Amino acid sequence: MLSVSRLVLAGLAVLSGSGFVKSTILQNGQVRITDFKNTTVDRTSLSLKTYPRNATEISYQGRWDSNFVSWWSAPGLKFGYTGSQVGITFGPSTSPGVLIGYRISGLDWQFTNVTGGQTHLLVGPETPGVDLTAPVSPTTFEMRVTNWAYGVQIESVHVGDGQKLIKLPDASRRIEVIGDSLAAGMYTSYEGLSSWAYGVGAGLGNTDYSITAYPGICAADQDCWGNPRGQVHQWFYTSDTSWRAAEAHGTDNPEPWDFSKHPAADLVIINIGTNDQNSHNNVSAPVYIDALTKIVQGVHGKYPNAQVIVMSLWLGFSQTGNTYASVSSKGFVNEVRDMIKMFNSDEYLSNPVVYDGASKKLSQTNKKTRPFVHLFNTTGILQHNDIAPQWHPSDVGAIKVASHLLQFIKLTFGWELEATGPEVFHETLYWNDEPNY
Ligand SMILES: *[C@@H]1O[C@H](CO)[C@@H](O)[C@H](O)[C@H]1NC(C)=O
Ligand SMILES: *[C@@H]1O[C@H](CO)[C@@H](O)[C@H](O)[C@H]1NC(C)=O
Ligand SMILES: *[C@@H]1O[C@H](CO)[C@@H](O)[C@H](O)[C@H]1NC(C)=O
Ligand SMILES: *[C@@H]1O[C@H](CO)[C@@H](O)[C@H](O)[C@H]1NC(C)=O
Ligand SMILES: *[C@@H]1O[C@H](CO)[C@@H](O)[C@H](O)[C@H]1NC(C)=O
Repeated sequence: MLSVSRLVLAGLAVLSGSGFVKSTILQNGQVRITDFKNTTVDRTSLSLKTYPRNATEISYQGRWDSNFVSWWSAPGLKFGYTGSQVGITFGPSTSPGVLIGYRISGLDWQFTNVTGGQTHLLVGPETPGVDLTAPVSPTTFEMRVTNWAYGVQIESVHVGDGQKLIKLPDASRRIEVIGDSLAAGMYTSYEGLSSWAYGVGAGLGNTDYSITAYPGICAADQDCWGNPRGQVHQWFYTSDTSWRAAEAHGTDNPEPWDFSKHPAADLVIINIGTNDQNSHNNVSAPVYIDALTKIVQGVHGKYPNAQVIVMSLWLGFSQTGNTYASVSSKGFVNEVRDMIKMFNSDEYLSNPVVYDGASKKLSQTNKKTRPFVHLFNTTGILQHNDIAPQWHPSDVGAIKVASHLLQFIKLTFGWELEATGPEVFHETLYWNDEPNY
């Protein structure tokens, strides 16, 4: 099937490289005019106050390893600060020239390319929001890496001389998205920062979010498009399945993710299986469902109180007559539905199992007695224009998925939408000013 084989290439394009390829953002086949500011400064020419990268005021978001290297999609950091300057010195494990987004207090994203060994002054007199006053107090700084395959290493953080960093309280809610390219933001303009996963995290407001997603990866623990392991294994680790990770520590030696040192997610959204379903990877339905079941049981073990949303799969998109729809007939539809039924059955709930590399019966005291796995049916959300030629959601498609999911979360769990600004999809503002044409 054409759509499916295209999806294949999507995975390969990113994974076959063994070096950093600088490419340009192509917008409908044309070079997008971008204005990424050169934020490199000569550190010695500025008088700044420097904090070490392990300063307790800095809240790391997503997965970072013990060397302060970022992994997966849209990892970042945030903190409050005083004054009108924020700088970051990046360490040598930073992908050269990697694009980061950063912003003040949830305003629109600014973008800049950063490199290891350099100091970048990200907040200065001209940064939008630098003059924000009450009720914004303190002003906050947020930074996110845009691309899943690249990363940054933090060396130190700077503020103006005599100024300080301020620790922000943890958000009152926390979500995690587990997925593949469709969650990582592949083929959207600003990748992770244009993904539906980001839109859900930012759109809920008052919510910390982590996107454990990587293009091409399967649920099943096998090589898929060059990803050496599947999510049923890799989710328990700090780093992703990139060649960057393999170069950093070999494929067999990643740092386990220390769940005990990070607050548990309240809600986990799982969208994985499109690569399993692809005939190239040859994952059978029982093997896929076994892996997906263990991912849910893994989440249950690590985050005992979390609710879980399993999204039905998209398997490429195609036009049939006047219909633009996701190919869903082969998407392990019945198997996924049956798995969710199983999780919510009295029989399972009275005898639940958790998984952390091995399956274990959950002790009586930790037993959950209410259903906790929910299906989010993606059928009917993405239509013409929502699907980019590379068979992934377009920017608008990503916004649609995020919006539907936000409403689903609100209606299902009673989470109010508390954001009042930060769900910004950069450069999606277009409108008409001409009333009479
Ligand atoms: C900045 O990053 C973008 C996105 O990866 C890339 O297209 C561009 O070439 C980079 N620019 C520089 C100067 O590194
Ligand atoms: C950015 O500015 C720094 C310092 O002014 C300069 O050394 C560097 O060449 C510039 N980088 C680019 C990509 O223009
Ligand atoms: C930060 O790291 C330094 C050097 O490893 C260590 O001495 C210090 O105790 C650490 N600080 C915190 C707050 O963990
Ligand atoms: C796919 O899996 C089946 C069953 O395990 C096996 O017989 C077949 O050879 C595999 N095909 C490929 C292309 O690996
Ligand atoms: C999702 O909804 C479509 C349309 O109603 C239905 O055909 C499909 O079976 C549903 N998927 C699942 C996994 O229940």
